[in-house]
Amino acid sequence: QEFRFDIILYYLPMLLQGTLLTIGISILSIILGSVLGLIVGFGRMSAHAYFRLPAACYINFFRGTPLLVQILIVHFGVVPALVGHTDVMIAAVLSMTLNSAAYTAEIFRAGIQSVEKGQTEASLSLGMTHRQTMRYIILPQAIKRMVPAFGNEFIVLIKDSSLLTVIAAKELMYYANVMRGQYMRIWEPYLTAAIIYLILTYSLSKLLNWWERRMN
Ligand code: ARG
Repeated sequence: QEFRFDIILYYLPMLLQGTLLTIGISILSIILGSVLGLIVGFGRMSAHAYFRLPAACYINFFRGTPLLVQILIVHFGVVPALVGHTDVMIAAVLSMTLNSAAYTAEIFRAGIQSVEKGQTEASLSLGMTHRQTMRYIILPQAIKRMVPAFGNEFIVLIKDSSLLTVIAAKELMYYANVMRGQYMRIWEPYLTAAIIYLILTYSLSKLLNWWERRMN
């Protein structure tokens, strides 16, 4: 049996529409996840146990359970409890955001703790306040070191958003599955989806490499 390019062409508009949603969900989740991750990350580094312990539990739970399970819990449990009914879009962004925050929290922590202690001591001994030390000494260096890890997290989100197909979020994988269902064919839908994911992640990693080189 020959490879059916015609059905790929026919489905391409839908696959690309799904790709747009894949990108949209990933961008939204990396942004919201970074904001939440910043809060959790600072909680994790807090001197107070009542900030530190909840933050540690949060990170352990979301990194220690499968994203697939989290998506199902959020979709069928958390979102109905919050808004009174299921909502695929809210569940999609919320589950990816909650998951990503656990990883970005650790990226923040690793970045900040990678700046040697001596620099804080030097800056404090020069008369800077803790706030000034954070703002002018620690963060500029830490942020630079966080960029590769953030790029990596974004790439993971793009790929793992394919799990959202189990709650019928109409992203790229959803349309690939619909296509398989209509034609009972495997290679055309899944190979096309794989290539589209590859184009997204490969160009993103190239972009990040370029940006990193420029920053140095
Ligand atoms: N695939 C892993 C899981 O299912 C990773 C989840 C997401 N990873 C991430 N860096 N956001 O649990």
